Amino acid sequence: MATTFQLDTLKIRMNDAALQRLDLHHRIQRALRALIMDGVLGPRVKLPATRGLAKSLGVSRDTVENAYVQLHRDGYIVRREGSGSYVSETVGIELRGATRKRAKLEPKPGAAQPGTGLSRRGRAILDSGGVSDQQVIKAFATGLPETRTFPTGVWERLQRQVMKDSRDHVLLHGDPQGAEPLRRAIAAHLNLERGAKVVPEQVLVLSSTRQALYLCAQLLADADKPILMENPGYFGARKAFEAAETRIVPIDVDAQGIRTDLLHADRSGASCVYVTPSHQYPTGVTLSLERRLALIAWAARHGKWIIEDDYDSEFHYDGSPTACVQGLDRHQRTLYLGTFSKTLYPGLRMGYMALPLELVDAFSRARSIMDGHTPQILQLTLARFMEDGHYHSHVRAMRKLYAGRREVLLASLVKRLDGVVQAVRPPGGLQIPCLLPQPGWTEEKTVRLAERAGLRLPGLSRLYAGEFRQLGWLLGYASLTAYEIEDAVLRLSNALSSA
Ligand SMILES: Cc1ncc(COP(=O)(O)O)c(C=O)c1O
Repeated sequence: MATTFQLDTLKIRMNDAALQRLDLHHRIQRALRALIMDGVLGPRVKLPATRGLAKSLGVSRDTVENAYVQLHRDGYIVRREGSGSYVSETVGIELRGATRKRAKLEPKPGAAQPGTGLSRRGRAILDSGGVSDQQVIKAFATGLPETRTFPTGVWERLQRQVMKDSRDHVLLHGDPQGAEPLRRAIAAHLNLERGAKVVPEQVLVLSSTRQALYLCAQLLADADKPILMENPGYFGARKAFEAAETRIVPIDVDAQGIRTDLLHADRSGASCVYVTPSHQYPTGVTLSLERRLALIAWAARHGKWIIEDDYDSEFHYDGSPTACVQGLDRHQRTLYLGTFSKTLYPGLRMGYMALPLELVDAFSRARSIMDGHTPQILQLTLARFMEDGHYHSHVRAMRKLYAGRREVLLASLVKRLDGVVQAVRPPGGLQIPCLLPQPGWTEEKTVRLAERAGLRLPGLSRLYAGEFRQLGWLLGYASLTAYEIEDAVLRLSNALSSA
């Protein structure tokens, strides 16, 4: 701790970027305060006289005087008639105490682990590791749509219109269940495009599928009521369920989707099952009609819930997509989950649920506790985007684009990586499962080699529970142009052949 005032130190602090927009006297005051708070200027250190400091800094004496007056008023310095200004003793004592307290908080080797002060649920959340999806490396990132073609001009125009027409409304709190025009637009879309049977009163607007999964775990599962989940399955769902300390019971998937015979045989006391019927994640398999009906019959007979994650069904390339389970379910046992992360862009953070009527109140209340509601301006802009037909046109254009990109990736994989991976042609979606059937090409090794070439291969094995794990990758392609896909596959092939 310094015992004398150093002009240079003050000048350096005054140049902090954070202080640049302040008046001069505020900059001097804030810089001095920071030096005192950090203990650089210790208790009883004498500050220069205002006239001298003003001269050294090239400012008026009043400017320095104003800074000192404020520091004095706030108790950082004391001013003694005929003697000068000094750093206050009491601030010094407080700071020395704080420094000691801070020192105590520094983790010592072998001391308490992170998360010690958390609840059991808090530790489960910490241990889950969260979901990291800041896709800095876009090549092969799964679930990422093309964002460069998003019609931002149209969106901005509609947003301006909404602000003009509903300014008072959008600046205030909204309905936790979601804005009525958007719920109406979502219900109309689901009924028309997904064969659903939904009224706007069943729709709950959320920030994402992930939020929907989190709510499902909170509201449907208990310590003695586990969640059944497809195996392999979506890691985002697993993390949301783990964070709620829910036991997850894996149910195997085969070429027709989730094995409903295993569901019928399950005696775990589970309250619900999580499924991705349109394009099973990650296999891409579409749940057969027979299995859909068996799933609904199981839920109706045993009073279970079906959580239907319909995350990318809009992108089905081989024929029309199968109607959703919700539309077939006459017993109101299905919670339908949709997202705009794929059809529009993931940064939007907008998703929704179409709930059985008996669950709407509980889910809306839970949402009101969590974060109130989704921003009003975004909801109303999206409602107009859908009402005016822009949503439909954008999805149609993207479907065509992605279908072409899927062919480019499949052809590229055959050309460059034949004998290493076996690509599975999915009927839709934004990614392709690639299996590693050849001995010698382990997932770990290929992921490591690719990483050296700046490519991230999303591994398949982490999506499995239990002993059997299919080795391979899930390659996302929708966000890459044909040229970028070919370039990435070439880089991958070069990286692997270097081994
Ligand atoms: C199976 C599945 N469900 C849902 C989502 C979308 O999640 P969100 O709406 O949280 O962005 C994804 C994203 O990759 C996914 O793969």
